[in-house]
Amino acid sequence: MKSDLLLRARAFEAEHIPKVDPDLLPHYHLTGCVGWINDPNGFSFYKGEYHLFFQYNPYDVRWDTMHWGHVKTRDFIRWQRLPLALAPDEEYDVWGCFSGSALQLPDGRHLLMYTGVRKEGEAEYQTQCLALGDGVDYVKYAGNPVITASLLPAGGSARDFRDPRIWQEDGRYFAVAGDRCPDGSGAILLYESDDAFRWRFVTVLARSENRYGRMWECPDFFPLDGYQVLLVSPQEMKTGGLEFLEGNTTLCLIGSYDRESSRFTREREQTIDYGLDFYAPQTVLSADGRRIMIAWMQYWNSVDYRPPQDLPFFGQMTLPRELRVREGRLIQEPVRELEAYRGSSVTHRGVLLEDGELELDGVKGRCLDMTVRVRPSRPGGTFDSFTVTAARGGGYRTKIVCRPDRGTITVDRSRSGLPDTILNGREFSARFPGNEIKLRLLLDRYSLELFVNDGEQAATFVVFSPEAADGISFSAEGSLLLDVDKYDLELS
Ligand code: FRU
Repeated sequence: MKSDLLLRARAFEAEHIPKVDPDLLPHYHLTGCVGWINDPNGFSFYKGEYHLFFQYNPYDVRWDTMHWGHVKTRDFIRWQRLPLALAPDEEYDVWGCFSGSALQLPDGRHLLMYTGVRKEGEAEYQTQCLALGDGVDYVKYAGNPVITASLLPAGGSARDFRDPRIWQEDGRYFAVAGDRCPDGSGAILLYESDDAFRWRFVTVLARSENRYGRMWECPDFFPLDGYQVLLVSPQEMKTGGLEFLEGNTTLCLIGSYDRESSRFTREREQTIDYGLDFYAPQTVLSADGRRIMIAWMQYWNSVDYRPPQDLPFFGQMTLPRELRVREGRLIQEPVRELEAYRGSSVTHRGVLLEDGELELDGVKGRCLDMTVRVRPSRPGGTFDSFTVTAARGGGYRTKIVCRPDRGTITVDRSRSGLPDTILNGREFSARFPGNEIKLRLLLDRYSLELFVNDGEQAATFVVFSPEAADGISFSAEGSLLLDVDKYDLELS
């Protein structure tokens, strides 16, 4: 039985989505089309297609009682919209169907696991719930909620207990969820089940201990290239420094996992994305064995700022990225499927740039995939700085400044359509082997994703300057040689 709330939300989508002017949408990044979206949810391979759900309020461009929106894809680039999957229509999730995950059960059903939120007076309760479906319609499990406060470790928080990430392994089911410890900071809890319906608490897999922010949201936990990786999105990061950036950041813990004792040993900690607009990443294992990650391309502290156009939607997802671990570090690159959408291209080789600024023939646009390689003009030499200025025109510009002597990249997102009152700059350390650097930029109508040195680092920013600001220039202090490969992306 579909609830009135679900039917109403689906009818709203069916009425309003077809009216949205496609010229207002991002060219190749996913949005909700109407309303508000945040975290990606339920990224899963189901019956030959990749399904993605998301935190969704269809009625307004602001966060409010969460539904689950729904899309699917075969290639991670083109998404097909499906009617929204979950509405907050039960007593245990009346305050929202918060983030969660999905998998295909052996009997062919699609299982969604999410956080149901309810309130009693001032008190808020978060529990883990299930819904079962066929890839379009989902029915909430009669035994919900399946993980409640009774399955918390001593001192665990029933209020901050959310975002279950389920997976199957050797015929058993596991889930990790975020919780808050008595010290006020985050922990990741591990649960286990024989049938995905009856759950046991296993252990606390990892803790913040107030080192990496407070509450840890949206965990993901998977093996990759001989390591075990835990992704978390900490609230209120305060560590600072060039590796763990204060405020908006996400964390990747890399280590090993002993399945017998359910013990995760952390060996390295790393920021996932060094930009300003990246949160709540979630991964799926592709049919050909790649670990693919997508994230909300936004951050909570700037959600009040919108592009100048009066858009009927707010919130976007990053382009899905392929993950690897190389020499103990997380590597991320845009999914290779994007290359099939490369249209006309422009190539420049060995352009000499000396203490000045230039534009290159044919290098402009806001829907493109561009790789820039820079090296000192004399072997063994260096240069002071190299800057790419994109989304340029009419007083707008977004700058990426690379400084080999300091080993830093600075992105300046002021004059990019966002107010000066918010954080618009980011500086992070980067490697310049032989004083060279390679940057790959994905530009879209409302965003810039930057990948450094073949995915060693990624930095993501929303950019709300008008699309007419499509100029690109290159400048240098010192003397360098520049190679540029620019592809327009063609999606129609
Ligand atoms: C992260 C988050 C999750 C929660 C969801 C609510 O962005 O706060 O922890 O499930 O958003 O929309």
